[in-house]
Amino acid sequence: MGSVFCCPNSCLRQIMDKNNLPKFSVLPKHVGIIMDGNGRWAKQRNLPRYKGHIEGAKTFRKIGEFAADVGVKCLTFYAFSTENWKRPQEEVNAIMELFREYLTEADERSAENEEKGITLKFIGDKSGIPEDIVGLMNHIEQISSDKSKVVLNIAINYGGRHEIANAVRTIAEKVKYGEMEVSDIDEDTISDYLYTKGMPDPDLIIRPSGECRLSNFLTYQSAYSELWFSDVLWPDFTEEDFVKALREFENRNRRFGGV
Ligand code: FPP
Repeated sequence: MGSVFCCPNSCLRQIMDKNNLPKFSVLPKHVGIIMDGNGRWAKQRNLPRYKGHIEGAKTFRKIGEFAADVGVKCLTFYAFSTENWKRPQEEVNAIMELFREYLTEADERSAENEEKGITLKFIGDKSGIPEDIVGLMNHIEQISSDKSKVVLNIAINYGGRHEIANAVRTIAEKVKYGEMEVSDIDEDTISDYLYTKGMPDPDLIIRPSGECRLSNFLTYQSAYSELWFSDVLWPDFTEEDFVKALREFENRNRRFGGV
């Protein structure tokens, strides 16, 4: 049976399972997370912005692991958007270096991920990303098992509108070459040409740092997502914050346009 504990910060009484992890009556099948606030976290400490990204990458590892442990089966982290290339070159380079480090580590730990049933996937436009990073991404996707229990997507050079435009272009080509009828195109057809093909739409999207917008994240897929915002900056985001979002999700009344 579960035990009850008191969260140090929120003092929410939590029902825990035998592994001392919180239990939920309903869990989102897919959670999207916009990792925002790294720059402000660094600024508050008079540090260069890239230091905030270093801390943000630590939080990414911590929350990714925790989410999988509590039973979320699909997670998508927004790590770098198609618009983020506009940032100073030094900052872009620092973020790319963090990807390099993480991907190298993920490659070294692939057996561990396989054992835990975690598959890493990358969503976004791989063109434009440094070649060695794309090589690592492709290699990791190739060695990842298909029998995974948890899919961990990292969105790199991702833009929701860009993704939809690509899907429309591919579908238009199929029609042009007689491989598809215009009358066959429905909402599912478009989903099938997105990076997230075969995955559930995100039930819950979390954005820390006080901004209340989606910023081109999972634009098509988020039509019925529950949104959860918090003022906490991403490097300070804890497992407890994640639990708070899941608790609120448990109590949301989802109607999908019905009554
Ligand atoms: C947004 O915060 C954050 C980013 C554009 C980069 C996010 C990248 C990481 C957390 C590193 C991820 C690493 C791996 C290994 C996946 P911001 O810089 O816009 O923050 P601000 O709004 O406070 O300026």
